[in-house]
Amino acid sequence: MPGPPAGPHTHRGYATPEGTQRYATRIPGLSPDHFSTAQGLRLSSIGLGTYLGNPDEAAQQRYIEALRRAVALGANHVDTAINYRFQRSERAIGEALEQMLHAKELKRDEVFIATKGGYLPFDTAPPRDPWEYLLKEVIRPGLAREEDIVAGCHCLAPSYIEGMLKMSLRNMRLDTIDLYYLHNPEQQLDEIPREEFHQRLRAAFQLLEKKVGEGAIRWYGTATWNGYRVGPEDPGHLSLQEVLNIAREAGGEGHHLRFLQAPCNLAMPELFLAPTQVLDGKRMPLLEAARKLGVHVVCSASLMQSRLARGLPGAVAGVLPGLQSDAQRAIQFVRSTPGVTTALVGMGRAEHAEHNLEVARVARAKADGFQALYRKPD
Ligand SMILES: NC(=O)c1ccc[n+]([C@@H]2O[C@H](COP(=O)([O-])OP(=O)(O)OC[C@H]3O[C@@H](n4cnc5c(N)ncnc54)[C@H](OP(=O)(O)O)[C@@H]3O)[C@@H](O)[C@H]2O)c1
Repeated sequence: MPGPPAGPHTHRGYATPEGTQRYATRIPGLSPDHFSTAQGLRLSSIGLGTYLGNPDEAAQQRYIEALRRAVALGANHVDTAINYRFQRSERAIGEALEQMLHAKELKRDEVFIATKGGYLPFDTAPPRDPWEYLLKEVIRPGLAREEDIVAGCHCLAPSYIEGMLKMSLRNMRLDTIDLYYLHNPEQQLDEIPREEFHQRLRAAFQLLEKKVGEGAIRWYGTATWNGYRVGPEDPGHLSLQEVLNIAREAGGEGHHLRFLQAPCNLAMPELFLAPTQVLDGKRMPLLEAARKLGVHVVCSASLMQSRLARGLPGAVAGVLPGLQSDAQRAIQFVRSTPGVTTALVGMGRAEHAEHNLEVARVARAKADGFQALYRKPD
């Protein structure tokens, strides 16, 4: 896969405890509890996502501007995936970093960059014949065998993930990616038995442990959609305990699977409400299981892909006071949910970054107030 030519600069380094602490104290006006601590890093409770938006040059320039505004206003956690906007989102991050580092607005050790691999990314635009693309770019070069691919677009084979990681580093002009997720691994369960799925996860985790050793990534994890939100009775269920056992087999007690990503918002409250996980025979919600197992939780789709940005019931404003809009209330809900490290919000426009980062100036809300929204009347 060709990708862009290597840029003039590679952004060396990675997020460090010292760098992220420096960032947390140098941005004026932020609420003292805006940053979470994960692996010794100070990570903003509002992070910038890069999923949505047109795959065109105008949206690209808007993303670069939004990234710079969001980082200037207190978001030091940036999330992407190789397939987002056909690799353009990763390249927007590479360009925004280039501009910010060059202008000395930011140091590499202050910002935490996460990406994902699993889905076939295409390049800049969808090809006329996706199957031909798959053959030419993946199967013939030996990145994966046909039987490794699910739904014609999803693959966890180590050689494929290794190829994707190499492209992501190049797209973002990074030496090291802070966090590398396997993207929606539960997609594989649509087509293969669970035992084989576990073998595939183990092989992918072994590769990611090797990449930690080589300095290409710092941590890895699973970014999911349904997996952790459904219980063991659902064929697409992911057990965090099982996933961690597999990481332990791959990397020993000191393995590097320390993060997971899953959607959580006012309309998708399963992470704190639904007892989808079983730990030592006891059922509990994902956020409780993750806390007990020492895994940091990053939440996606904080605005339910913009649907919560307007029209929320009046009761929400009552329990999440001091904010100007439904978008801000929806973000405040996710970042204030106990156990959430970062609420990711897709922001492809500087004005959205400016409006949403105003929430970073407000203390997180007390959960017993807003979680009362979900209590059944007696
Ligand atoms: N399975 C996975 O791994 C997975 C799945 C989904 C998402 N994610 C990650 O999580 C991130 C967040 O989720 P998401 O982007 O899907 O959905 P989201 O954050 O719930 O919503 C993003 C949408 O809301 C709009 N928006 C942002 N601020 C707004 C405001 N103040 N007023 C009105 N509209 C506003 C954005 O528009 P503009 O872009 O025009 O600013 C964008 O269309 C993603 O970007 C991605 O990084 C991961």
